[in-house]
Amino acid sequence: MSDNIKISVKGLYKIFGSEADRMVNLVKDGVGKQQLLEEYRHVLGLKDINLDIETSKLHVVMGLSGSGKSTLIRHLNRLIDPTAGEILVNGKDIVHLNDAELQDYRRHDISMVFQRFGLLPHRKVFDNVAYGLNIQKLPSAEIKERAMRWIERVGLSGFEDHYPTQLSGGMQQRVGLARALATDADILLMDEAFSALDPLIRTDMQTMLLELQTELNKTIVFITHDLDEALRIGDHIAILRDGMMIQQGGPQDIVMNPADDYIVDFIRDINRGRVVHLEKVMDSEILSGVEGGLHATMALEDALPLVTSCEAQCLPVVDDNGKPIGSISVDSIAKAMARPGDAPTTVIR
Ligand SMILES: Nc1ncnc2c1ncn2[C@@H]1O[C@H](COP(=O)(O)OP(=O)(O)OP(=O)(O)O)[C@@H](O)[C@H]1O
Ligand SMILES: [Mg+2]
Repeated sequence: MSDNIKISVKGLYKIFGSEADRMVNLVKDGVGKQQLLEEYRHVLGLKDINLDIETSKLHVVMGLSGSGKSTLIRHLNRLIDPTAGEILVNGKDIVHLNDAELQDYRRHDISMVFQRFGLLPHRKVFDNVAYGLNIQKLPSAEIKERAMRWIERVGLSGFEDHYPTQLSGGMQQRVGLARALATDADILLMDEAFSALDPLIRTDMQTMLLELQTELNKTIVFITHDLDEALRIGDHIAILRDGMMIQQGGPQDIVMNPADDYIVDFIRDINRGRVVHLEKVMDSEILSGVEGGLHATMALEDALPLVTSCEAQCLPVVDDNGKPIGSISVDSIAKAMARPGDAPTTVIR
């Protein structure tokens, strides 16, 4: 296993029902989710999932309700046992951990943030954040120092003696995040962690997560059914449908090269100008005699006003060292930002 892969899921199947082991062969032979349910009374949760999650990256798993997102993430902390397949974490198969190893893995290697916050209502903010540290049996001075540090880091200083019900939803999820980060686990699992929040609070939480991630470099598995959220925060996105993985890639790959009509429908209304960078749509021509240029990772919507306002309506695109690697025109930006498949309905003469 390559050094930079933290979690590797290989050939994972999950079938719910009393004869799951027998059913897996039917599924391998092509029986689909609907048929398995109607003829065999079993639920296909996941089918042949293969997924490599890189160390220190934010990896989004996206899909509609019932597509298998929670089933997948619950395998990673072994709340669910697979019907078939392997899950390697740091190269070790966690499916075969004994009880003591599993307890150790859950206490030290992995932590989770839940959609409905999952806080203990009768414990104060401090005690909720300190929860995992108490389980780790750390010295009380260290528990106090760490819990207070995380309470402060998520912007809740002064609220440590409040109870969860005295806080807004956004604040409660900050407690959930502080609790998950306090244990110092390398892997953070987030199942629809921001989905219950109002849009503005949700955007704030995404921003905070991205800021924290630049400092902490955790390996984050983030589940969402929201494509905008996935595109905003994900280094890598995996899309599930009916228990199957239908596409994986960077946000730009998904938007530029959707694997099928289902994903085309999914991405139809997103702001492509915010997701796609110049490097994906630039022309290879190097402009002679033009100074400066736009960085290859600039988003199309940021580049558009700059290119429009220059006389030639075309500017060099440069790499990290300022070296020209291509050029970008208003025309290329406009084409790339257009919604795929939209034909003009009116012809202006
Ligand atoms: N314990 C269970 N017993 C039987 N079927 C289950 C069980 N857990 C999940 N399923 C089924 O597995 C499939 C995937 O469910 P899962 O909860 O993983 O979806 P999800 O993508 O997380 O959906 P949501 O967005 O609604 O949370 C669904 O068809 C669901 O009904
Ligand atoms: Mg779910």
